[in-house]
This record gives sequence, structure tokens and C-alpha cells, in this order.
Amino acid sequence: MTESVLLRLTPTRLAPEQAAFAAHVAAGLAARPRVLPARFFYDETGSALFETITKLPEYYPTRTESSLLAAHGADIARLVGPGRAVLEFGAGSATKTPLLLRHLAARAYVPIDISGPFMQAAARALAEAHPGLAVHPVIADFTSAYSLPQAVRGQDLLGFFPGSTIGNFSPAEAVDLLRKFRAVLGAQGWLVIGIDTRKSPSILVPAYDDAAGVTARFNLNLLARINRELGASIPLDAFAHEIRWNDAEGRIEMHLRAERAVSFTLLGQRHEMARGETLHTENSYKFTYEEASLLARAAGFTPRACWTDAAGLFALHAWQATAAALHP
Ligand code: AVI
Repeated sequence: MTESVLLRLTPTRLAPEQAAFAAHVAAGLAARPRVLPARFFYDETGSALFETITKLPEYYPTRTESSLLAAHGADIARLVGPGRAVLEFGAGSATKTPLLLRHLAARAYVPIDISGPFMQAAARALAEAHPGLAVHPVIADFTSAYSLPQAVRGQDLLGFFPGSTIGNFSPAEAVDLLRKFRAVLGAQGWLVIGIDTRKSPSILVPAYDDAAGVTARFNLNLLARINRELGASIPLDAFAHEIRWNDAEGRIEMHLRAERAVSFTLLGQRHEMARGETLHTENSYKFTYEEASLLARAAGFTPRACWTDAAGLFALHAWQATAAALHP
């Protein structure tokens, strides 16, 4: 269902953001198997829990990617050359950005994020730390249309998309999104992207099912948010966090499993779930080097360099825009 169709199905008494939330949740509960939209994990509590996740011993992506950026920032700078404007897609708190900017001799920095106040604070801190760097925040959802600030139009651009956020999109959505990045970055553009690697489930599963139970709280917070913001009556104590490695799809799946038969209402609609049924809340795709390169080529980029840690836990890729004549 498209967003506009979903919105038409939603009661008008909700604010537009909540109406979109309600429409996605209602559609997900009506689907079989049931799904809940991962993009709504990040309310204030969810964002704070995610920050905690990034520091957990089992969650290797954040610290491994930061080490790769620290070790190879200078290599990236050599590859892409000086004087670029850096566009960060979904900048958030921009914690990894200084590791890149330190080496780049960038002309400007453009963080693009939907969360205005959060990003503005991060942008101010970066501007203070890099005197002479022009910072032009764009408050927008990087998956939809937005305009670049006048000041960077026509400049050589470097996109930055860390964190393996690309893995939270289906492969088809990922190609669509990367094509949008390619269109924004233009013919001279480069993209530096962090992508989690396919590896043993003995490493992957604990990264999403940590001993301290933080990821479980992050997952369950989505139900708490649905109850609080949409007036639903989901019994949180009836659900358990469940992580599955789906080898055929190459993805970690996050579910909430009903531990007993449950019945609840959402927006006047009654929902029943049998014991053992799940709400599928998130996919996190993992990629071999070949799979990542296929994504790049499908989206109009040419893979130029890839750095991994000694254990091959995470990969940092540098992709160059393919000449327009060579991509569809
Ligand atoms: C944001 N994203 C890349 C995280 C991931 O690893 O897929 C979200 C996450 N979900 C549970 N833990 C982390």
C-alpha cells in the first residue's frame, strides 16, 4: 500500500505524523505474516536505547566501522580528492562524521535528517570543531524528495551513509534508495557507505539478542509507543523478543512473539493473535562483497575500494558514480 492510500484509510483526528504511523501499523497488523514498521522504532526512548545498543559488547558494527573510518580516512581522502561537499544521509547525531571530515579538506558539510533539533545541535558542534567548514543542514527524510542548499549546487559531492542502515531496506528498496543518492550526487559523485557483512549466526544473533536485554527493550518499545500514541491496548507482558537468522534471505529478523493468546484493540479494530504468532518488526540484511557490489552497480555506482577489519565483521565501501552512459 502506498503512503497516500494508507493515509486515506486513517482517522483524521490524528496529527499528520501520527496518522502515517497509525496507517502503517494498521496495514501491518492486517498483513499475514504480521509486520510492524521498523522506521517507527526511533521515538525518544527508542533513540536512547539505540544509542545504548551501539555500545554493547555484542553489537560490533558501530565500533568496527568507527575503527575503519579512523584507519582509512586518509585513504578515502586520497581517493575522492579535496574540496568536496559532504552529504550525510540520515546524519542523526553525526558521531562518525568527524572521523571522515578530519582527513577530507571538505568544502562544506550537509547533514540530511528528519529530526531537526537533534541534527541542528550535532551540526553546530561540527561547525565549531571545524572552523572554515560551511555547514548547511537539511531537515528532510532522505528517502523522499528534497532540495540541496543553493550553496553546494554544482559542487563535487561525496555522500556518506554509515551504520549499515542500507541493511534495514529490502534489496529492491535499497537499490531504489541508492539510485536516489546517485541522482543527488551527480556524475562526479562518490559514496562512502558502511555495510555489515554476512557472517556466522553465532556472531550475528547475539548482536541482536544481547545478554543485557537492551535490544529486547528497543523492540518492545515499539509496542509501548503504539499503545501510548495510538491508544492501543497491546499487553506488552505477553510478548517476547525473538531473533532469527534467515539464511536464504541473508538477513537478521527481529520479531515480537506472543507468549499466550492475545487480544487487543487499535483504532477501534480488534486483533487476535494465537500463542507463538509473531509481529515481524525489522530486517537487517547482511552482504558479501559480491552482493554489495551488485547493489552498487544496480544503482549506478562503480565499486572502487573496500576496507574490512581483520575478522571481516564490517565493510566500508567507496563507490564512484558510473558515467551516465554506462548505467540504465
Ligand atoms: C540502524 N540499523 C542499522 C540497526 C541494525 O543493526 O540493523 C538497527 C538495530 N536493530 C536492532 N539493533 C540494531
